[in-house]
Amino acid sequence: MRILALIGALAVIGAIAAAIFFFGGFFSVAEVEEKGVVGWAKATVRAASVSRHAQGAPPISLDDAATVQAGARAFATIGCVNCHGGPGVNWAKFSEGLQPVPADLKEMATARSAPELFWVIKNGITMTGMPSFGAAGATDQQIWTIVAFIKKLPTLSDADYKAWTAAP
Ligand code: HEC
Repeated sequence: MRILALIGALAVIGAIAAAIFFFGGFFSVAEVEEKGVVGWAKATVRAASVSRHAQGAPPISLDDAATVQAGARAFATIGCVNCHGGPGVNWAKFSEGLQPVPADLKEMATARSAPELFWVIKNGITMTGMPSFGAAGATDQQIWTIVAFIKKLPTLSDADYKAWTAAP
């Protein structure tokens, strides 16, 4: 009985200490690089979540040249290039202040399936800088064209991207 009372008291003290730590402003919300096991765990949780939520096959052909080019234009104008860069285009300097740093989309082209890419672009990733473009007004159709473009990134030349995204 005494042991139980002690455990209860410790739990209450722990809860009060946690409340003071978080609501008292001691927890730092600064962007810092998370290394080691915490960084690994967070990245693994994000990838597992995306993988479980992503579903459904692409409703359009992702190999269609016009679709890929429309995706390149959307990618260039909707804001992605600021954080992720593009073929022959550097990301904006502020991206270096994001933690985690924006993913290399050339790697993501093979590391993620098309439905996973679609889900991420539509819904964003919480506690990272990756916004939800669905919430920002992009249509599913537009997001699928961007997925088609990302899937082609490993084989795209800088010149293709420049030509496709040049002002008409
Ligand atoms: C404000 C900066 C920002 C913008 C704008 C942005 N992203 Fe991201 N994006 C990020 C960050 C940060 C991550 C890294 C998240 C992580 O490591 O899990 C990310 C991750 C991703 C990923 C990888 C997700 C995964 O499964 O690991 C993809 C794909 C992606 N972004 C595509 C896009 C596309 C396409 C656009 C434009 C429609 C875009 N992003 C716009 C910051 C941004």
